[in-house]
Amino acid sequence: MEAKNGMTLVLGGTGKTGSRVAGRLGEIGVRVRIGSRAGGPPFDWDDMAMWEPVLEGVGSVYVTYQPDLASPGAAERVGAFADLAVRSGVRRLVLLSGRGEPEARCGEDAVRESGAEWTVLRSSFFAQNFSESFFLGPVLGGELALPAGQVAESFVDAEDVADVAVAALTEDGHAGEIYELTGPRLLTFGEAVGEISHATGREVRYVPVTTEEFAAGLEQEGVPVELVQLLTYLFTEVLDGRNAHLTDGVRRALGREPGDFGEFVRGAAAAGVWSRHETMHLPG
Ligand SMILES: NC(=O)c1ccc[n+]([C@@H]2O[C@H](COP(=O)([O-])OP(=O)(O)OC[C@H]3O[C@@H](n4cnc5c(N)ncnc54)[C@H](OP(=O)(O)O)[C@@H]3O)[C@@H](O)[C@H]2O)c1
Repeated sequence: MEAKNGMTLVLGGTGKTGSRVAGRLGEIGVRVRIGSRAGGPPFDWDDMAMWEPVLEGVGSVYVTYQPDLASPGAAERVGAFADLAVRSGVRRLVLLSGRGEPEARCGEDAVRESGAEWTVLRSSFFAQNFSESFFLGPVLGGELALPAGQVAESFVDAEDVADVAVAALTEDGHAGEIYELTGPRLLTFGEAVGEISHATGREVRYVPVTTEEFAAGLEQEGVPVELVQLLTYLFTEVLDGRNAHLTDGVRRALGREPGDFGEFVRGAAAAGVWSRHETMHLPG
């Protein structure tokens, strides 16, 4: 199977969803180019001179922005990239966005107005943040401190996000859709780390902290101020209860239910991702 007119560029193609999207596309015979700073040719959101070469011969793009679609300047850059992509012959854009992030909507609008066929994946927090990203270090250290109180989140499996992205990139029927992607169950952060504790036998505590304590902790770790602001935004405003409900995006896109957090935990535990012993803090 071939994506629309040419190869598929997967931005963030070595990241949590991008690597899975690239892997699946390769398995079904779609030609893939990885867009990342380590890619060939390299791609960096911070260097527009690198954008044109990666778009050569590309018919569709999975767009994941770094560091976050809600970060300052993201909409302008994603818009400029989408316009260049269309001028370069790209016909289809699939954008990864964040659920409940009003700041990300401008980036979505920029893609929707680009003239390409578009699909937006508005995703909740990935389960893989606990195994491959921000929360891995704190989980290994035995304590996850977040300013999220007892709010519930519907962690979605990055495998499901990747399945939806691949469907949108390769099948008809997804153009013009905004899929809100959640898992099938709401969990507080305490319950989520409790499931990891149960599966691994290692004690992992969730400690609710204030926004100020959270930001001060990050600053102490030497996290750059812009990243502190972004993480504080993501872990306070977005986790204020606005996303504490489930959606049917995975079922609407794929005709099946999303994977449960418990299945993810059992798989990651069996793969040994939480078997190491080290102390790290946010961001992992
Ligand atoms: N994490 C979540 O729970 C979540 C939920 C909803 C939406 N999102 C959205 O998903 C997107 C990706 O976030 P993520 O946390 O999942 O990260 P990720 O995809 O795991 O990020 C890593 C990828 O981005 C590439 N990358 C890093 N900096 C780059 C740069 N300056 N230019 C080009 N590529 C760069 C990395 O490759 P190199 O290092 O080789 O460049 C790697 O391929 C964000 O826009 C975020 O808003 C995330």
